[in-house]
Amino acid sequence: MKQKIAILCSGGDVSGMNPALKRFVEYAIARDMEPYFVYHGFEGLIDNKIVPSTYSDVAGIMTRGGTKIGSARSERFKESSYRRIAADNLRAQGITMLIVLGGDGSFMGMEKFYRESGISFCGIPSTIDNDINGTDYCLGVDTALGIIKNSIDQIRDTASSFRRAFVIETMGRNCGYLALVSALTSGAELCLIPEIGGDFNDYKEDFASQISSGRDYFIAVVSEAMKNSDTVAEWFEKELGFEARVTVLGHIQRGGNPSVYDRLMAYRFVTYAIDGFLAGKTHSVICYTKSHFAFKTIDDVVSHPYRIDDELLTLAREQFRPSPHRT
Ligand code: F6P
Repeated sequence: MKQKIAILCSGGDVSGMNPALKRFVEYAIARDMEPYFVYHGFEGLIDNKIVPSTYSDVAGIMTRGGTKIGSARSERFKESSYRRIAADNLRAQGITMLIVLGGDGSFMGMEKFYRESGISFCGIPSTIDNDINGTDYCLGVDTALGIIKNSIDQIRDTASSFRRAFVIETMGRNCGYLALVSALTSGAELCLIPEIGGDFNDYKEDFASQISSGRDYFIAVVSEAMKNSDTVAEWFEKELGFEARVTVLGHIQRGGNPSVYDRLMAYRFVTYAIDGFLAGKTHSVICYTKSHFAFKTIDDVVSHPYRIDDELLTLAREQFRPSPHRT
């Protein structure tokens, strides 16, 4: 009898989930397994939205952001009584392996589920926040960064035409990764993230001197984690006499045509997950560090908070250091 394997998406969707679903169906069939989709994350596991999937289900989805099978944040799955129902639903269909595209909260839920039910799981880090300890890369980050880059490039056009400061707020929940990389790669004047901290008032002298030397617009990239975009805009107006606007990029960062890198990473993550199951892995998270994949335990992943790479932080600290003499 063929082994049955399912996949679900949990938490915030990312561009790259659909390429992962495509690879999942095609590679599972190639490895002589029967692939199943679970619709709407852990909610669908509880409500038995578990259906066999075929090639035709994944035809033409490579280019689409979001996820064809839906995602959800499930409160019910935190309760053991609902996890029991979920396990019964999988067992009733003979499914013994589950791939979860999501974040560390989802993986912790799966670890409990595995201990209680014996159903194997493999977690694939998928969040635009790039905030999972143990992996350098989470699926969806590259596409989100591309969208932010395009948005900031476009905002720069209007900022430079109108002599304004633009405060651009990126997502990231509590993590400044998206803001840091976007500020560096878009040539912003200011980057505010919790990992660096500091007081934007320290930039007053620097920016005032730049204005007197002819600067006629500013781009400030601020992580949503700072919760101070409006305050920064007011500061530009009051302290520097520079008209300011706030652009909260919001959910546009989560959608869009998956980048080449996210398509490729989706294929690689899923292939590694299926190969891992067939080699006997029962409960792991695939991490991608220093250009290599490795299986890690959930404890490895949640034992520490994610830390942005020191080299990147140093680069940003150096780049965004207030420097009154830079003109
Ligand atoms: O975790 C992904 C993320 O997009 C965060 O960057 C953001 O803070 C949050 O989800 C938004 O959540 P929601 O889609 O529920 O508004």
